[in-house]
Amino acid sequence: MCGIVGYLGEKEKKEILIEGLGELEYRGYDSAGIAVMAGEELRHFKAVGKLENLKRKAENFESEGYGVAIGHTRWATHGKPTELNAHPHSGAFSYVVHNGIIENYQQIRERLEKEGVNFLSQTDTETIVHLFEYAIKRGMDPHEAFVETIGELEGAFAILLISRAEPEKIFFAKNGSPLLIATDGEDIYFASSDTAVIGRAKEAYYLEDGEYGWAERGRLAIFREKEMVEAHFKNLPSDKAMARKEGYRFFMEKEIYEQSRVIADTMLGRVLDEGIFFEELEESFFDGIENIEICACGTSYHSALAASYLFERVAKIECRVEIASEFRYKEPLLSKRTLFITISQSGETADTLEALKMAKKSGLKTLSICNVDNSSIVRLSDATLLTRAGIEKGVASTKAFATQMMVLWMLVLYLAKRRGAIEACRLEEELEAMRKAPKVLMVAESLHQRIHRLSKRYLHGHGFFYIGRDLFYPLALEGALKLKEISYLHAEGYPAGEMKHGPIALADSELFTIALMPSSVLYEKMRSNVEELSARDATILAISPERFDIADDFIETRYSEHPMLEFFEMMVVTQLLALEISVRLGNDVDMPRNLAKSVTVE
Ligand code: M6R
Repeated sequence: MCGIVGYLGEKEKKEILIEGLGELEYRGYDSAGIAVMAGEELRHFKAVGKLENLKRKAENFESEGYGVAIGHTRWATHGKPTELNAHPHSGAFSYVVHNGIIENYQQIRERLEKEGVNFLSQTDTETIVHLFEYAIKRGMDPHEAFVETIGELEGAFAILLISRAEPEKIFFAKNGSPLLIATDGEDIYFASSDTAVIGRAKEAYYLEDGEYGWAERGRLAIFREKEMVEAHFKNLPSDKAMARKEGYRFFMEKEIYEQSRVIADTMLGRVLDEGIFFEELEESFFDGIENIEICACGTSYHSALAASYLFERVAKIECRVEIASEFRYKEPLLSKRTLFITISQSGETADTLEALKMAKKSGLKTLSICNVDNSSIVRLSDATLLTRAGIEKGVASTKAFATQMMVLWMLVLYLAKRRGAIEACRLEEELEAMRKAPKVLMVAESLHQRIHRLSKRYLHGHGFFYIGRDLFYPLALEGALKLKEISYLHAEGYPAGEMKHGPIALADSELFTIALMPSSVLYEKMRSNVEELSARDATILAISPERFDIADDFIETRYSEHPMLEFFEMMVVTQLLALEISVRLGNDVDMPRNLAKSVTVE
């Protein structure tokens, strides 16, 4: 999704902007642009496609001395991905970059057009810069004009604006889309995510909704409802290496291999001999809670769905799971006895964030499971369990999913013990299995090789069905999502027992069935479901610790003593399979077409 960077200082502005935008590339984009004002000179460059194109366009440009600069990577919402629609958008003497959606832009545009304002693009963003300049033309000073402008906007926005009318300042505003201000003690940086400034800035202030202001050399003014706000800066990590590929072909591949290590981080200090301990949670947090409702999107929704089996089976607590975009508009009945959990890798997913706001408005206790500290979802939740996966760059989520599952499993055991739903010896067994998870998640070279070889047989066909039962049904959904995201092949996840109620009609030798067949959960039932498909000549790739003769292809797994260990092992297999198929098809694994890492629009 769109990314924003801004810089105010003496250094080479073009380089800082393009470097920052590069760090946001993983979020997905289809065009990019920068605008730089140094002295009297205000220049801009835009290009469709990769940042390389922008770099080439701006290669002869250098700016000297103090100046202000803004940059943007755009993921098209209103208007095609063209150079004209790329940000920054300009008026006669100002430039703006914007993330989010201005919902009332049509009305504003029509009004301004009647006043003779000429629009160049099809975007909602362009209205911002024209509103600002129109206010100046009506006699306002730039500060008043900016406040007037953002006061007119409805919807979600993170905005940076520079103008010849106030050439040494960057104006900013945030409402519903993330924006932060960072500093190295000297210069000021802006970004939609701290990834863009880590390594350059030392600390950051994460703006709250409704905050706006301006920055100039040595001065930062932040306001909320016209009152000055004191910014409390937080230290940023300095470790940029974390975000690099370290010899792997793709970030996704690196992140699959990292899962063993990050899951150990997730468990650190939380998995104790006597049970699960969460430093972040007060014991009383769960007082009065009778059931759980989880809202999430995409992969995070799949982890929620998988966890719902565990919450009910192990912790004996009712658990309902909803896709956030559905939840928002179904007029859900909410009870104050419900713990409302949101799960999000980024912490910025618009639908999940809005669902959380609804739950808060109804007075529910809220808990988020999130990978990004200080993200919007974390800041809004009553409590948070961080997944500690580290920065995830691949658009196709892998280690975030693994760590979400681990946090959820831990939460299940925590609640099971607190509610007296689990016997001591069973808890002991669960913890023992949990401690084995990092080992299970280690990628064996031989497994990767085997999947690489197998993948050449799965590049065509008229579709993939990933099937599983129980916990392994959400894993089937996740396996199918991984494949379709990066291979662009059609794949569906399905509950294996449901195939005979319709989808089996598709079965023939060109239908690829990826069967998740754990030995610890409903093995015999699953076996019969796969036999039914095999009898109709579907091509079967079975993933199981039990040898299965009728499968066309077979990947043998090693850990069968606990469903979650089988889950993690099979998860790695499905991730590698998607990766290898995508590589063979020549796709951009880390930045699949049409997708964005952080979906900050609904
Ligand atoms: O950041 P979130 O976990 O809230 O994101 C939710 C989905 O957009 C995300 O999981 C998406 O489905 C990924 N591309 C999956 O690989």
